[in-house]
Amino acid sequence: MSVELFEKIPNNVNLSSDKRLQRALEQWLPNYIAWWKEMGPEGFQADQVYLRTAISVEANGWAHFDYVRMPEYRWGIFLEPPEPGRIIGFGDHYGDPAWQEVPGEYRQQLRRIIVTQGDTEPASVEQQRLLGQSAPSLYDMRNLFQVNVEEGRHLWAMVYLLHSYFGKDGREEAEAMLERRSGNPDKPRILGAFNEPIKSWLDFYMFTMFTDRDGKFQLCALSESGFDPLSRTCKFMLTEEAHHMFVGETGVDRVVQRTAELMRESGKDDPESVMKQGGIPLDMIQRHLNLWFSLSEDLFGGEVSSNAAEFFAAGLKGRYKEQDHYEDHVALTGTYELLVPHADGHLETQQVPLRNAMNEVLRDGYVADCQRAVDKWNRTLDRVLGPRAEGHKLRLPSRRFHRHIGVYGMESGSFFDPDGHLLSSADWTRRRDHFLPTERDRLYVQALMKPVTEPGKIAGWVAPPARGINGQPFEFEYVKHIVA
Ligand SMILES: [Fe+2]
Ligand SMILES: [Fe+2]
Repeated sequence: MSVELFEKIPNNVNLSSDKRLQRALEQWLPNYIAWWKEMGPEGFQADQVYLRTAISVEANGWAHFDYVRMPEYRWGIFLEPPEPGRIIGFGDHYGDPAWQEVPGEYRQQLRRIIVTQGDTEPASVEQQRLLGQSAPSLYDMRNLFQVNVEEGRHLWAMVYLLHSYFGKDGREEAEAMLERRSGNPDKPRILGAFNEPIKSWLDFYMFTMFTDRDGKFQLCALSESGFDPLSRTCKFMLTEEAHHMFVGETGVDRVVQRTAELMRESGKDDPESVMKQGGIPLDMIQRHLNLWFSLSEDLFGGEVSSNAAEFFAAGLKGRYKEQDHYEDHVALTGTYELLVPHADGHLETQQVPLRNAMNEVLRDGYVADCQRAVDKWNRTLDRVLGPRAEGHKLRLPSRRFHRHIGVYGMESGSFFDPDGHLLSSADWTRRRDHFLPTERDRLYVQALMKPVTEPGKIAGWVAPPARGINGQPFEFEYVKHIVA
């Protein structure tokens, strides 16, 4: 695939050969930039930031690192090269040639999938727009902006699909992407977690750990899609997404490490002592973990879902690693064992037809991946605290805990503690502050969020990273702040 790097919109989709499409996207470009300037990182638009920019999809050398002002970032359209003779890998059309055009019968669903995915990208930029002002180090600030510009590029990826395959209504959807606003009651973003405020860097690390990781699983499921352009664009987005999850997973790890170091140095384990030393106590970290894990689980949708069954049957959305992990790609016969709460309070096993349980199947992979990270954080506690780490380990809550949709949803009157035990609504209200961040937690963490902008320096509540970006040391000047 040839790369058009110096066009107005860098791309590897031969945009210059389709003048109509090129013009339409070039008209969307200034609206996008206007949105970026209004809703992108506030206070840093004139700064030189050491960013990577996608310039091709070659595994070695897809990215270029240099200083750039964010509004001048080269947001491009890059799809993985087509796989010759690719077939639809699952569902009712299993074995048919993959679609290069939108199949008419699934137009509606496909557009909805693309819009829902696309909407999350600008939403997260909006949620994070003030965080630069309290970055714990220039390294972290740069990572935040890297995530932000790449979420912007992911919006481009989805808008490209809408513009080139969905005609007029696709263009209208692309406009609407720039009109909704995270957390705005009148024109909110589509999904719940993307309207939650990200007020602190602890929230940011948790968000990139848990919510971007939902994104990974959604993109993996969509990269199985029989609609080939969607599959190819999602595959390349995953390349960038890996860094976002790295930022989250190592970010939480560095907070945990710092807290453990403070506990070791003081010889005191109680939260108050950690707070006196300016760290974030482990129980507070746990409450943030509980919040963001549960909010992110909701993004997978209901446990029993006719939409999920339809998307699978139609060949639009597959399972995580559909080709490697499964043998039966039609999934018409199997069932999934689901624990469903009953009115009298006990949980009963229900056999759900496999296709209807596809959201839950995808969530299984997600939960396992999150558990892996929690185990890693606990190894950090072991390393720093030795035997004293026992009793302080972090835990992934039950998937029934604090859910807003599906069979465990609080709206349907079910409340569960982090162990997955059913609670009365009165018990939930009484114990909620043990499970989820309290107002006091928020105020405390908020007060810690003081910016550190000197190269090589870092805030006292987080450990420095093991290494810098692109072979640069931690002391590197990742952001050159221009004082206006
Ligand atoms: Fe993204
Ligand atoms: Fe991301």
